[in-house]
Amino acid sequence: MRSVRLLVAAAFVLMYTYTFAQSASVTFEAQTRVFRMEGGNVSYAFGINDANELQPLYWGARLSAGDPLGPAHRNQGHASFDLPSGSTLQEFPGWGEGLYYEPALKITFPDGNRDLVLHYVDHAIDGNQLKVRLKDIEREVYVELQYQIDPKTGILARSAVITNKTSAPLMIEEAAAASWSLPNSKDYWLYYLTGRWAGEWNVQHEAIRPGARVLESRRGSTGHQNNPWFAIERGDHHDQDTGDVWFGALAWSGSWRITIQQDVLDQVRITGGYNPFDFGYKLAPGEQLETPVFYGGFTLHGIGGASRLLHQFELARILPQAPKPRPRPVLYNSWEATTFNVTEQGQEALAEKAAKIGVERFVIDDGWFGQRKDDHAGLGDWYVNKQKFPNGLKPLIEKVHSLGMDFGIWVEPEMVNPDSDLYRKHPDWVLNFAGRPRTEGRNQLVLNLARQDVRDFIFGFLDKLLSENDIAFLKWDDNRNWSEPGWPAVAPDEQKEVYVRYMQNLYSILKELRAKHPNVEIEDCSGGGGRVDLGILHYTDEVWPSDNTDPFDRLSIQDGFTYAYTPGVMMAWVTDSPNWVNRRSTSLEYRFLSSMQGSLGVGANLNLWNDEDFATAKHMIEEYKQVRDTVQHGALYRIISPENGSEESVTESVADNHDQAVVFAFLHSSQMGHPFPRVFLRGLDRNAQYRLHWITERPEGHLPESASGAYWMDHGVDLDLRGDFQATAFRLDRMQ
Ligand code: DGJ
Repeated sequence: MRSVRLLVAAAFVLMYTYTFAQSASVTFEAQTRVFRMEGGNVSYAFGINDANELQPLYWGARLSAGDPLGPAHRNQGHASFDLPSGSTLQEFPGWGEGLYYEPALKITFPDGNRDLVLHYVDHAIDGNQLKVRLKDIEREVYVELQYQIDPKTGILARSAVITNKTSAPLMIEEAAAASWSLPNSKDYWLYYLTGRWAGEWNVQHEAIRPGARVLESRRGSTGHQNNPWFAIERGDHHDQDTGDVWFGALAWSGSWRITIQQDVLDQVRITGGYNPFDFGYKLAPGEQLETPVFYGGFTLHGIGGASRLLHQFELARILPQAPKPRPRPVLYNSWEATTFNVTEQGQEALAEKAAKIGVERFVIDDGWFGQRKDDHAGLGDWYVNKQKFPNGLKPLIEKVHSLGMDFGIWVEPEMVNPDSDLYRKHPDWVLNFAGRPRTEGRNQLVLNLARQDVRDFIFGFLDKLLSENDIAFLKWDDNRNWSEPGWPAVAPDEQKEVYVRYMQNLYSILKELRAKHPNVEIEDCSGGGGRVDLGILHYTDEVWPSDNTDPFDRLSIQDGFTYAYTPGVMMAWVTDSPNWVNRRSTSLEYRFLSSMQGSLGVGANLNLWNDEDFATAKHMIEEYKQVRDTVQHGALYRIISPENGSEESVTESVADNHDQAVVFAFLHSSQMGHPFPRVFLRGLDRNAQYRLHWITERPEGHLPESASGAYWMDHGVDLDLRGDFQATAFRLDRMQ
């Protein structure tokens, strides 16, 4: 028994060092013509094959330096119906030479030629970066493939730059960032995320079968419906922490597509980038088009391990404050309490109450500007409404500061109500097809941010707002998707470029604002989680995952969100009960515990609270501040998932140094008197002693005050939860 324990302990130490292997290398072996990239626990290799194409060779757990990989040989095809060009996996296939699978690049030349065959030209290695240049076999079209491997997580960043060196313009009809490949197997399982407004982040899990599964948005924006993230597991593992998992996320906030295809040889290809639907980018001689970045990673530690790697990567590499993002402050937002009815007096009264419970940031939501009484008017008119704020914003901001909080404000810069001065002055500024109806959503139209004048207007008013007022935070909203995506002001063959140029301008505004106002933080919101991706997260510090604030629905919304995104950006408000979504009633404590699994906010009507509510809130916020670093920046373990009608749900977050763990447990509804399943913790230091601290009331029963990491993980904890919508939470602190 003792030797088994020792073995387990040794395995843990090994796993620990293995998990934190931190080196990256990129090499090219001239003899075999094989490129190898290593980072974290991952090796990635591809070769130049006998036809001069780039052919993937390996993507998975780190191999030894001398392991044989290559040379790459073209697959001879399956029959006359499946030609070698298509059967051979390629790093970045052009559409030509009989490719029946999803191409990475499709071009129409002015003479009608649509055949594109990309061959290796040269490459350059710089530290953990690799650039490989490809060229069409006949025409002067170049593609530079860019690779960068992260030393810590082994996550690869891939993108492509397409250059037209011919003497005539060409039309790009499809441009992916990358094509990833997995070797032939009939046992792959796909995870992906689906949703809709107020019902985002549903985790889908299905076997990969021959044919294609297309994940996409045609909406001009990332969308609530699919998220540009996938994970593929070899074998159907029923736990979170075992199994080989490949995963990827596309950094693009406009229309996108990821196609997961199993070919006739059972190989799997994952191709993602700009959505080719309605796509067209005219590349004049000398011009370039750069694709978004498609990130991809691998882990041996199951879907839970995949999420943890991605979280770590987002915090260290993606977020604007990477590698050490500041913890999210506890905020208050009155949207659900007051909707558009914001006034100086009303907001000040709420601010006083919010300060009493320990809120650190006070945010005024929609309704403070123009003639904004409801959602019918005012968007686009970014002056302070004098009826609601007779003395401007300054008195409220000063009041908020005097209460020890910083101040944030809501904006929706990309939109306009037809009932606004802006639209009356510039009806041509919106996306539209000349002479056609303009379909409204929430009584608003989308400004065409691809236009330079619109870009300048948006940057200008935001810059002014931030320069004239002491504002620490912008909540940047975006409450509809595109319709009639026309751009009549430019030549017909350039109008489809709107999909690319709009987003480039959006990113450039965010970038410039951050540079000019470096202390301002930004929340990305799109009617909830309608525009969450690694592209926008490069410029925004947090996101609003859903307008659905029902604390029980939130358990699965938050669970799904964290498959792809770190809880460090996941805002979660405590709102009123019964909640407006399902008319469900829950205790204030339950609502807090649900929200404390992410970045805590309060969105309830504080004017309706009694003394007991204030005391509960103050206590929970104090407790939250003790664990927020662990929750926001630690390793998340899904101990019991709320998915698939589960009656229970448990999450655990563990600090990076393993000094603290915090557990949140929820019971939906007791059935047949079953006890709550014993909770076995993970990720602790087996040999350390941890002291137990209850965030909620200490339950009856014989629970130790302290025990070893091994005890909490192997013996586990019994929680005394019975009834409906019950919840409890505790933390463990390493004893010195
Ligand atoms: C949608 C957001 O998701 C809400 O939180 C709120 O800000 C409203 N828009 C305001 O119009």
